[in-house]
Amino acid sequence: MKTILITGANGEIGHGLISRLAEHSDVRIIALDLQELDEALKPKVYRAVAGDILDTALLESLSATYNFDTIYHLAALLSTKAERQPVLAHKVNVDGTLNLLEMAVGQSRLQGREIKFLYPSSIAVYGLPDLETKARAGKVKEHEWLTPRTMYGINKLYCEQLGIYYAQYYRQLDADSPRGHIDFRCLRFPGLISAVTVPTGGTSDYAPEMLHAAAQGKPYQCFVREDTRIPFMAMPDAIEALLQLEAAPRHKLTRFVYNVTAFNPSAGEIFELVRRAFPTAHVTFVPDLKRQRIVDSWPADVDDSAAQRDWGWQPTYDLHRAFAEYLVPGVLQRYNRKL
Ligand code: SER
Repeated sequence: MKTILITGANGEIGHGLISRLAEHSDVRIIALDLQELDEALKPKVYRAVAGDILDTALLESLSATYNFDTIYHLAALLSTKAERQPVLAHKVNVDGTLNLLEMAVGQSRLQGREIKFLYPSSIAVYGLPDLETKARAGKVKEHEWLTPRTMYGINKLYCEQLGIYYAQYYRQLDADSPRGHIDFRCLRFPGLISAVTVPTGGTSDYAPEMLHAAAQGKPYQCFVREDTRIPFMAMPDAIEALLQLEAAPRHKLTRFVYNVTAFNPSAGEIFELVRRAFPTAHVTFVPDLKRQRIVDSWPADVDDSAAQRDWGWQPTYDLHRAFAEYLVPGVLQRYNRKL
C-alpha cells in the first residue's frame, strides 16, 4: 500500500491526478485543499482534509498520522491571481512549499527512508524581454532565460531551487544529526488544457476558456492577440508526465527539473480548431495589455529533450489528436451536448 499526499487537490491537476491514481487499489490518497474536496473526488480518496498549507500544526498532525511515500505538492496561486495579490502569492507559493518540504524531511527522519516530492513548476519561470527575442529563442532549454517577470514565476523558480537544496544540501553543516532524505523531482509544465475542469487565475487560461465557452454556446472575449504563442499540453499527458517522473529510476535522472511540452499553437490557431468543432463559436480578440505582456514574456516553445532522453517522456496527444480524441468529446460530455 502506498500512501500519497496531494496538496491543492481541488485544482485542475489534482482532479486529474486523483482520478488516475484512484484506478490503483494499492494507493491511499490523502487529499488536502483549502476548500472542501469536490464531491466527485471524495469516493476516490482515503481521506479529504480541508485546510491550509500555511497551517503547520495541521501538517504536523497529518505527518504524525500517516507515513507518506510520495508528496505531490500542487497547491499554488497561478500567475494572474498572484500578480493581483503578490504578498499572498508569496506566502502560499513559497512559504507553503517550504512547509511541505519541512514536513517531508520530518517524514523521512521518522520513517528512516527517502520521501519522494513531486513539484509542478511552469513556463512562467522563463522571462523573455521582447517578442523579437522570443521569436529568436525558439525552443528554450531548462537553463536559459531564467529571468521571470511575474510573482508566480519568481516563486516557482525559487521553489525549484529550494527543492534541490532540500534534496542535496539541507543542513549540510550538521554532520551528526539525521538530515532526512528528499527525492525532489520537478516538471516545468506548459499551459494545461483540460476537458473536465477550467482553470482559475492563470494567464494561459485563454485556451481552455475559449474551448469551454464554445462548448456551452457562449461568446468569448480572448484577452491575448491572435498571434500569441506559448506551449500547451492536454491534461491527461500532464498527469502521465507526473506519474512517469515519479516512477523513473533515480539513476536515470540527470537533473531535478525537466521541461515537458506537447504542442504550441497560436491563440488564433486554437480558435480555428475550436471553430472546426463548434462552427457557431463566437470569439473576439481584445488583448488585455497587462496579461498580454505576461504571456509575451513566456517562451513560444520549450526543449523537452532531457525528459525524452532520461525517462522516455512522449506526449500521447499532439494538437489535432488532443482536440479530436480528448478535448472536443470531453467538453461535449461535460456540458451534455451533441454536435
Ligand atoms: N498556467 C499557468 C498560469 O497561467 C502557468 O503555469 O499561470
